[in-house]
Amino acid sequence: MTVATELPASDPSSTQAGPITMLNPDFPFSYDHYLARPAGLGAVPPELYGTEVAVVGAGLSGLVTAYELMKLGLRPVIYEADQIGGRLRTAGFPSAPGVVADLGGMRFPVSGRAFYHYVDLLGLDTQDFPNPLAPVTSSTVIELAGQKYYAETAQDLPPFFREVADAWKAAVNDGAKFVEMQEAIRARDTGRIKDLWNELLPLMDEQTFYGFIAGSESFKEAGFAHREAFGQVGFGTGGWDTDFPNSILEILRVVYTDADDQHRLISGGAQRLPEALWQHAPSGMAHWPDGTSLASLHSGSPRGAVDRISRDADGDLRIRERWGREASYPAVVTTCQSWLLSTRIHTEEALFPAELWTAIERSHYMQSSKTFVMVDRPFWKDIDPDTGHEVLSMTLTDRLNRATYLLDDGPDKPAVILLSYTWNDDALKWLALDADERVELMLHSLEQIYPGVDIASHIVGQPITVSWEADPNFMGAFKANLPGHYRYQQRLFTHFKQDKLPESQRGIFLAGDDVSFTAGWAEGAVTTGLNAVWGVVNHLGGSSAPGNPGPGELLDSIGPISLD
Ligand code: ARG
Repeated sequence: MTVATELPASDPSSTQAGPITMLNPDFPFSYDHYLARPAGLGAVPPELYGTEVAVVGAGLSGLVTAYELMKLGLRPVIYEADQIGGRLRTAGFPSAPGVVADLGGMRFPVSGRAFYHYVDLLGLDTQDFPNPLAPVTSSTVIELAGQKYYAETAQDLPPFFREVADAWKAAVNDGAKFVEMQEAIRARDTGRIKDLWNELLPLMDEQTFYGFIAGSESFKEAGFAHREAFGQVGFGTGGWDTDFPNSILEILRVVYTDADDQHRLISGGAQRLPEALWQHAPSGMAHWPDGTSLASLHSGSPRGAVDRISRDADGDLRIRERWGREASYPAVVTTCQSWLLSTRIHTEEALFPAELWTAIERSHYMQSSKTFVMVDRPFWKDIDPDTGHEVLSMTLTDRLNRATYLLDDGPDKPAVILLSYTWNDDALKWLALDADERVELMLHSLEQIYPGVDIASHIVGQPITVSWEADPNFMGAFKANLPGHYRYQQRLFTHFKQDKLPESQRGIFLAGDDVSFTAGWAEGAVTTGLNAVWGVVNHLGGSSAPGNPGPGELLDSIGPISLD
């Protein structure tokens, strides 16, 4: 079903170069190489060792930022309103805490090389995530308009689904040079990537995902039913029709870089990654003795929620916490959803240019909801003697649930069903309902698809549910740009290079996946954190390591172009 897994076979040249990585076409900077070079990320003047730098948010972006600043000999001071981990939040089921549910990020594409730099560094185990039709997924059911299709591989599906996949393949190729772009990404040919992208960008920024589909020759020819089914079964991870109003640029960035393909999960839960960054004591740091970790620098806990960010008369940045404590810093990195800078945190307006505030305010965030239950065992692997099929499969449906994922840890052990994972309108339908009401409706839908399978009788304990838009520290799950938002994204992303800003607006840096060009992907949290590290080092009079130019050095030559 995925474009990415099907194209290479028909395109032998594309396998000659390296693998597809999340080399983003807006800024095809190889963060993975940057991280891997022994020279490191740079240095600050030794007289600044121990200088405190504030980092707002202990999610992945904040922890990567703080971890790297610590390695350079600075003293990060992390502020966190809730839990260490941000949207990499894992909940354990109360009666079996080892059985977990990833409430935010749960599946991480192997093309996200900067993300896996940290996963590998911290020695975390990963496993294939059971996406629709993935090799690790023993069976998938697609149910649309009451018609049910059972498949162990994509070949088991009727030709209609192949036609849908082909229409998408043709649409991205004809309209957005898919094969050429993937070749350029494999070859890390930044010049070629930029040439292709800079030509497409002004046209595509004005188009919705749906407009792109509906305007393509292949889908026009195929007809409405194919467009509709495409919205429901989509590519890689499943149906993306709740993204139809978003800019097609957002979708192209995902499919070019295989972000929709070959996902892995972190064994024991995604939150283990930020927790491990918090605890890890790297060796050979500038200034700090071995054994120093973020946890030890903070005596075990981050500072609390930030209430206000302002500028002192002497030019330092001042942070006031919710319970009144104040402290000043020469530099601040904010990694929360940027929306929060105008809602939850009183951020002095003069700290950012007016156009940046526009970008922050006009951002669009997706709603997203998940509901999990723990079951006594992975009973779905039982075979129905009448059909020879597994009794329950990974499911894509046009009913309320939209997508159901089956997560097990081996036979005869408790397992987890992610009954429903939804975005936007589909998530809003759950928002007002409590966990039990959600589960009841979800089970009702599944009963229509799997008559006679008594899922409820396997459920143990209480369900776990989340609606990220209802959490005041997030107000949404992840950003997704609407048409015409490219200019906003460009402002947010490039803000870390502050040489053209007046002194009064320097020293505060934005990071987080919403600042990246791939919101909703942890890779963007990591890479924008690295941009902010570069920004802080530069701001404090430091520099990149010889032979290892950083994102700020490359931004002007291969960075996102300005539109008029
Ligand atoms: N990475 C997340 C996932 O795999 C969310 C990405 C979806 N992004 C979007 N614009 N819909 O589910």
